[in-house]
Amino acid sequence: MKKILVIHGPNLDLLGQREPAVYGRTTLKQINSELLKLAKKHKVSLKIVQSNHEGQIVDLIGKGKNKYLGLLINPAAYTHTSVAIRDAIAASSILTVEVHLSNIYSREEFRQKSLISPVAKGTIMGFGPKSYALGLLALLDLL
Ligand code: DQA
Repeated sequence: MKKILVIHGPNLDLLGQREPAVYGRTTLKQINSELLKLAKKHKVSLKIVQSNHEGQIVDLIGKGKNKYLGLLINPAAYTHTSVAIRDAIAASSILTVEVHLSNIYSREEFRQKSLISPVAKGTIMGFGPKSYALGLLALLDLL
């Protein structure tokens, strides 16, 4: 069975209570359960991890090199700062789809740059929790 790694970056464990005006009321548990349903339908398996730690995310991607066919990642705040995560994706050459709940280009200036987008196959953003399902479908389409 095809295996896909799903990574949720920092503070995404707080979805549902965190800035609901920006991120909505859907929890991470609900997002994961939608992803698992979709994965089951398409006969792929998912390894889902949420981490607040940059190094841990780098390790996961590095170790995932020969294990996963694709990576679905919301790097959250690390989107805008992490050369390390970007380099890990580039080094692993895992097919990567970047997702964001919000449209980062309609927000504060410091969010209007993604260090991850240049090493991702594509980016889906601005559709709230649906960004994840759309991202997974895009990834599946490419596999
Ligand atoms: C986010 C956008 C980031 O700027 C922010 O730091 C997040 C969530 C999004 O999904 O919209 O934590 O990645």
